[in-house]
Amino acid sequence: LVIMTTLPATALAEIAQQLTTGGRGILAADESITTMSSRLEQEGVRASASARRDYRELLLTADGLSTWISGIILCDETFGQDLADGRAFPIAARELGVLPGIKVDAGTTALPGHDGALITEGLDGLAVRLASYADRGAAFAKWRAVFDVRTVTPYSAAANGHALARYAALCQQHAIVPIVEPEVLCTGDHDLAASATATRLALSAVFTALVDAGVDLTGIVLKPNFVTPGLDAGDVAPADIAAATYAVLRESVPDEVAGIAFLSGGHPTARVCAFLRELSAIDERPWPVTFSFGRALVSAALHTWGGTTSEVPAAQHVLLQNCRNASAAAEYAA
Ligand code: 13P
Repeated sequence: LVIMTTLPATALAEIAQQLTTGGRGILAADESITTMSSRLEQEGVRASASARRDYRELLLTADGLSTWISGIILCDETFGQDLADGRAFPIAARELGVLPGIKVDAGTTALPGHDGALITEGLDGLAVRLASYADRGAAFAKWRAVFDVRTVTPYSAAANGHALARYAALCQQHAIVPIVEPEVLCTGDHDLAASATATRLALSAVFTALVDAGVDLTGIVLKPNFVTPGLDAGDVAPADIAAATYAVLRESVPDEVAGIAFLSGGHPTARVCAFLRELSAIDERPWPVTFSFGRALVSAALHTWGGTTSEVPAAQHVLLQNCRNASAAAEYAA
C-alpha cells in the first residue's frame, strides 16, 4: 500500500526556496556506506556503523549550523540512525533548523553499448521508499546522474534525464522536493569548452525529460557542476568559470526553476567558493544560486576529527568556517 500525501505545488516551491535562498546552502553528507567507510579509513578511523554515525552527528550538531545550512542530505543508513541523545537524525535535523533530505538513487552502472557511459539506477520500488521517507520526515531527496566528458552521448544524457524525470515526478507526488543532480565530472585534463559542451548536453536532455514528465519546475532544486576545465588541466580564473557556467545554465535551465545549488566535485574549498562568488555577482540571474557541497565543506573537518572525541569541537569549528565562507560566496553581490 502506497500512501501519498499530496502537498500543494506552492508548498513544494516554498521548501525549494527555503533550501536555496537567504545565503544558506545544503550540506551533502550522503556518502554511501562504501565511500564513507573508505574516507574514514583514509583518516585512520576504523569504519563501522557507529563511526559513520558519530561523524554525521559531529556535522549535524555543530553549534549554529543552521545559520549557514538550510538542509542536510543523508544516506539511508544515517536517516535510520539516532543521535547519542536518542533522537532520530531526521527529527533532530528539523529541531536544529535544518531540513532533512535523503539520497534515493542506488548508484551507477555501465550503460550497455555506450562505451563507458553510466546510468543511475534505483527507480524500482522508489514510490514505496519515498512514502516511508516522507513519513519519517524527509523534506527533500537527491538523485545523482554522472557524466564524463569523454563518454557522454545524446543517448546517455537522454537515458539519465528520463530516470531523473521519473524520480522527480515521484518525489513531488510524495510531497518531497527533488534535488535533480546531473554531474559532469571534472576528473581528466579536458578544457573549459569540453566541460561546457558536455554540461549543455546533459542539462538540456534533463530539462526536456522533466518538462515531458510534467515535473513542476518551481518545486525542484537543480544541483549542477560548475563548468570548469578538468582537474589535471591548467587553472582558469574564477570569473571565467562563472561566465562559462552562467552561459550554459542560461541556455539550458528554464527561469521557473526554484533554485540552483552547486556541487563541489573535488575542487578545493577556496576555489569552489570563488566560483560561486563570481556567479552570484551576475545579477541578471533568474534563479537563486547557492551551494550543495560535500567534500568542500567536510573534508577538513573529517581530517581534524580523525575519530578522536576530544577533537570534535575543533572539527566542528573547521566545518562551520567552511559553511560561513560558502554562504558569504552565495550572498555576494557585486
Ligand atoms: P561534492 O561537493 O563532494 O562533489 O559532493 C556533492 C554531492 O552530493 C555529490 O553527489
